Amino acid sequence: MPRAGTHALGGDTIVGMNARAALLSLLAACALPRVADAQGPVVPYGGVALEQWLAAGHYRQWRSEGAPHPSEGPHFGRVRAYLNPVLYASLEAGAKRHPAGAVAVKELYGDGDAVKGWAVYIKIDSADVAESWYWYEKFESRVVADARGVLLCRSCHFTGRDYVLTPWPLK
Ligand code: HEC
Repeated sequence: MPRAGTHALGGDTIVGMNARAALLSLLAACALPRVADAQGPVVPYGGVALEQWLAAGHYRQWRSEGAPHPSEGPHFGRVRAYLNPVLYASLEAGAKRHPAGAVAVKELYGDGDAVKGWAVYIKIDSADVAESWYWYEKFESRVVADARGVLLCRSCHFTGRDYVLTPWPLK
């Protein structure tokens, strides 16, 4: 029997076949995703690419809080959080640690009704170290954070459920 070829996950034939079978059933299960489960384009982290991704509004297909509400943190006034499918599923499962790929986007409204900026958290690695989290915040023209492991952000967020502070379940 010919080898199944090498691939990133598992070099031997048996593993390869199982991986393919798992992928096929996953694709079948995902054939008709609900809109809120759609990941959309991969979230870029870092400066301009992320800003463009935010401005395009891809995150708006995720589950979110029903409406902007006053922030209990230093987030410039009124806010509305959106959770990507990975983070939503993890919170729903009651996980203490979220997997890599978990993303939260928070719209910042200031004291008005228009979006004036965003705060973002992306878990880019599953290791339980500060560098596994990327933080971004921009309000009006001011970038407050755009890096991994930002002390300002985690000094508050470490009290949350693996850094998530938005009240759960979403309101
Ligand atoms: C003084 C505490 C504090 C600091 C500092 C802080 N936050 Fe928050 N953050 C909060 C609270 C409280 C919430 C929950 C929603 C709300 O009330 O705004 C929150 C919510 C968020 C959310 C929505 C997802 C979640 O965790 O609930 C993101 C994303 C976020 N903050 C990013 C940031 C970033 C980026 C920084 C650093 C620039 C930062 N935060 C600094 C208190 C803080």
